[in-house]
Amino acid sequence: MRIVRSITETREIVSGWRQRGHIIGLVPTMGFFHQGHLELMRMSVGTTDKTIVSLFVNPTQFGAEEDLDVYPRDFEGDCDKARGCGADLMFCPEPGEIYRPGHQTEVSVAGLAEGMCGLDRPGHFTGVATVVAKLFNIIHPDYAFFGEKDFQQLQIIRQLTKDLNFSVSIVGVPIVREDNGLAMSSRNSYLSESERQDALVLHQALQLIWRRVQKEKDAADVDDLRAQAVALIEKSSFCTLEYLTIVDEQSLHEVSQVRGRCRVLGAIRVSQRIRLIDNIALYR
Ligand code: PAJ
Repeated sequence: MRIVRSITETREIVSGWRQRGHIIGLVPTMGFFHQGHLELMRMSVGTTDKTIVSLFVNPTQFGAEEDLDVYPRDFEGDCDKARGCGADLMFCPEPGEIYRPGHQTEVSVAGLAEGMCGLDRPGHFTGVATVVAKLFNIIHPDYAFFGEKDFQQLQIIRQLTKDLNFSVSIVGVPIVREDNGLAMSSRNSYLSESERQDALVLHQALQLIWRRVQKEKDAADVDDLRAQAVALIEKSSFCTLEYLTIVDEQSLHEVSQVRGRCRVLGAIRVSQRIRLIDNIALYR
């Protein structure tokens, strides 16, 4: 596996691959790999001829009060894991390589980025959309792989791909969870053993809604479903709710009835410090 820091060198390698007719897959990441990241890499390796993993802790998607400075890192470990999955190239630029002095352009996706994480983290999705658009322009992948764990992010990336006419197919990959149901996340490394237990309440609340929807089919009342799940989270002494919403998957608008492709998305803060998100599709 090649490890490359420069845009120019990455472009040269990719253009050589393309001349030989290879299909190229991109897995954008911020590192500190867990099985969720590795699943995206395995999907890419299984679907394409050449897999590029980008590892870039993107400063523009972190708010001033957020965890950019302490975001977990393990460069050597990440290289080993990506190599183990069969990745061909790891693109790991320095911030100055991606954001040159005088950088002025941003990509923002208006509607989809407004609610949920967009409300709690102003500017976050503009940072994400900008860096993903840059990665698409640097690499021109045929396929790019993103996790459903960050479902709002996935839909925003699908929208920007369509709106900006990128010729890349976006592949959404189901959430990889710990045995106890906790969605894997690099930020889980901030949790103590007892906080890990507390954090499970988010998944339990989402599951509660999923179970009731399966049982009650279309009859389930959204306000009632939500109230029960919120009450479960509010019972927990160490977790505070940021949002819990049942939305239409395409528009990400709140629904009044669970019908068609709906999904429940939620975010909590554990011990005030650690923000975790999760979601469940309500139709399968
Ligand atoms: P990061 O949090 O490192 O996640 C990289 C990719 O892994 C994302 O597509 C995310 O949805 C996926 N992922 C994370 N946990 C997962 C899990 N438990 N199951 C399945 N997939 C999971 O998301 C980002 O980085 C950044 O915002 C990025 C898109 C790289 C832009 O900077």
